Amino acid sequence: MKNNKIPKANLYQTVIDYGKSKALRFHMPGHGGKNIDSAVYGAASCDITELPVSDNLHRPESVIKTAQKEYCRVYSAEYCHFSTAGATAAMQTAILTLKKKNKKVLVQKNSHQSVTNACIMFGIDYEIFSTAEELKNMELGNFSAAVITSPYYTGRIFKGFKSAYRLLKKNNVAVIIDQAHGSHFIYHPDLKKYFYNGDFVIISPHKTMNTLTGGAVLLGYKKELKDKTAESFNMIHTTSPSYPVMASLDYARYIFETRGTDILDKVKDNVETFRKSLNKNYEIEITEDFTKIVLKTAFDTKELYDKLISKDVYPEMYTEDYLLFFVTYWNCNSLHYLSNLLNSIDLNRKTRTEGAKFNNKINVIKEHKAKDIDDTEYINPEDCLGRKLAVSVGRYPPGITEIFEGETIDQERFEYIMKYKEILTGLINGKVGVYKK
Ligand SMILES: Cc1ncc(COP(=O)(O)O)c(C=O)c1O
Repeated sequence: MKNNKIPKANLYQTVIDYGKSKALRFHMPGHGGKNIDSAVYGAASCDITELPVSDNLHRPESVIKTAQKEYCRVYSAEYCHFSTAGATAAMQTAILTLKKKNKKVLVQKNSHQSVTNACIMFGIDYEIFSTAEELKNMELGNFSAAVITSPYYTGRIFKGFKSAYRLLKKNNVAVIIDQAHGSHFIYHPDLKKYFYNGDFVIISPHKTMNTLTGGAVLLGYKKELKDKTAESFNMIHTTSPSYPVMASLDYARYIFETRGTDILDKVKDNVETFRKSLNKNYEIEITEDFTKIVLKTAFDTKELYDKLISKDVYPEMYTEDYLLFFVTYWNCNSLHYLSNLLNSIDLNRKTRTEGAKFNNKINVIKEHKAKDIDDTEYINPEDCLGRKLAVSVGRYPPGITEIFEGETIDQERFEYIMKYKEILTGLINGKVGVYKK
C-alpha cells in the first residue's frame, strides 16, 4: 500500500483534538484533563472517557470501530478487540469464549501465567504439553482449545507449529496463539513468515512496538465466534479503558504500516553492528527475532546485571544463562554505548551463584483439575517442603510458570522457591499457596 493510501490514525487524532479543545469537562476521569502536577499528568488532556466523539470500546460504532478495522485489515483477521489491560485480558477473553462443557484446555508448558490462571478462574481443567510431537500421543478429542506461544519471550518461535496446528484442527481443537511478542513480525520480510493465524491470535504491541503499556489486541479469525467473543470481552474488560493506550494502539499501527520495514531494518542493522563489536566475553544467541538480544556471557549474569543497573542501564531481565535486551527503533541508537560499556566492564569470571539451578526440563504434572480457591492455605516459603502447590509460581519477568499447581514441593522445587522467592510471581504476600492438608 502506498504511504498516502495508508489510513490515518483517526482515533489517535480524535483523542488529541479533544485534548486540545476548550471543552468544559463534567465527566470522568476526575483530573478533568488538567496537567495538575508533573510529567505523569502530561497526557491528562488525552485521558478521556466515552463521549459522543470518542466511541465506546464495548459497543464500537465510530473511531474505535475504525481503528479496530484497520488492525483486522493489517493482520487479516475477521474481527478484533482492543485491550488496555494487556494480553492478559485478551487471553482470558479467548479462553472463556472457547470454554466447553466437559472439555479441557491444552496449555503449552512455556505459556505465560495468564493462560493457566484463566483456566482456573473459569473452572476449566487443563493439561500441559511441551512439543508438537507430544500432541500425537494425546487424546485430543478431550480438548476444546489449545494455547500455543510463539514467539517466546526471547524471540524463539514454536518449532513444529504447522504440524501441531494441522493435528489440532483435525481433532476440532480451536487454536489460540499467544503472539504477544510477535506483533511487529508482519512488518518485516524476515519475520513475516513467523506470524501464524489461528482461531484467535493475541498480539501485544506495547511489548515490541510503540504502544503505551497495556495495549494489546485480540484478533479473531472465525466469524462464527464473533458474537460469543464480544460477550466474553464485555464481561472481562474494564468499562474504563485507557484512551491514551487505545490511541497509541491506533498510532503504532499507522507508524508501522507507513515505515515499519525501515524501522525494523534499522534495528536489525544496529543489532548486527552491536554483535560484531562485542569482545570475546560475550556471545549473542541467535533467535528468529532479531529485535531480541539474548546475551550469553563468560561473567556471572546476576553480577553483570547489577553492574549495568549501577550504570543506569536496564536490561529486560536476566536468567542464570543470559541477559535479555529488547531492542526497538526508539532505543537502538544506544546499542553503541551498551557495547562499549559491556566491553569495558571488569567482573569476576562466571561462578555459579550458590544454591540450586532449577532444571527447567523437570517433569511437570500434566493434568490439572480446576481448583476451588478455598482449598488453598498460605504458608511461609521455609515451611513448604513436601506440601502440594496450589498456586503456580515462576520468576517474573517473564512470568512463565515453572512449578505448576498440583506438584509436590520436593527438595529441588523447595530450593528453587527459596532461591527466587524475592522475584517469584505466584507467591501471595510473600507466602506459598499450598493445598490444605
Ligand atoms: C508470552 C506472553 N504472553 C502474555 C503476556 C501477558 O502480557 P500483558 O502483561 O500485556 O498482560 C506476557 C507478558 O510478559 C508474555 O510474555
